[in-house]
Amino acid sequence: MLIYSFSSPEAVGKFAANLIQAQVNLKPSCVLGLATGSTPLHCYGELIRKYQKKEVDFSQVTTLNLDEYLGLSPKHDQSYRYFMEKNLFSQVGLTDKQTHVPTGESQDSEKEARDYEKLCLSHPTDLQLLGIGANGHIGFNEPSSSFALSTHIVELTEKTRQDNSRFFASLEEVPKKAITMGIGTIMRAKKILLLATGSSKAQAIQKTVQGPITPETPASILQLHQDVVLVTDLEAASLLNEQDLPLGTEWRKEA
Ligand code: GLP
Repeated sequence: MLIYSFSSPEAVGKFAANLIQAQVNLKPSCVLGLATGSTPLHCYGELIRKYQKKEVDFSQVTTLNLDEYLGLSPKHDQSYRYFMEKNLFSQVGLTDKQTHVPTGESQDSEKEARDYEKLCLSHPTDLQLLGIGANGHIGFNEPSSSFALSTHIVELTEKTRQDNSRFFASLEEVPKKAITMGIGTIMRAKKILLLATGSSKAQAIQKTVQGPITPETPASILQLHQDVVLVTDLEAASLLNEQDLPLGTEWRKEA
């Protein structure tokens, strides 16, 4: 794992956008795995600026999003399809045909999960962007007693529902279930770019990088991936202990 820490969330976003731009320029027909949440917003804003300046072209790119709430229509302003359309797709020329987000209101969500996994298998991901939940979840893979391998339906923890309730009118409105790529789906990506900002993520980042690999901290599995870049601000990195990094982990302090 390669860790870069920066002084601000904006710098984290800029650096992440540079890495995504490099990926797209290197392989214009690449597959990008994308994430929602507030953390990637600076990165998406930067990609939009690069697109407007014609520094990056998404016309041949395919995207696969990590997850979606169950029961929300794509038009619901808290659905992840809506989030992606608003914050990236519509602003960089990414069309419906190029972009994939699991369907949250399928009649048969188990079948939707199986179909989405097949879609992921047929589009090997070149670069997977990830945020992290305060409890160490990635996508919506919540802490659990075992790692779920493929795309599946998940019951959201109260912690995650509370954390995400800031985007809804009330906690009651936050869906109780979601569909998410599994840990196995995520781990197949050739490269993983994990972003974390703010002190609320410090403990999750410490456990992800230096804790035991356990489904109780789903992101800890990333220690086993061969190409992970973790980009943090100083707050999210504040509990990392430089003297005690696992073998093969390098920390570059950019600020
Ligand atoms: C949601 C998403 C995750 C995201 C997490 C953190 O639960 N399913 O993919 O990483 O929120 O969100 P934020 O970046 O807003 O803290």
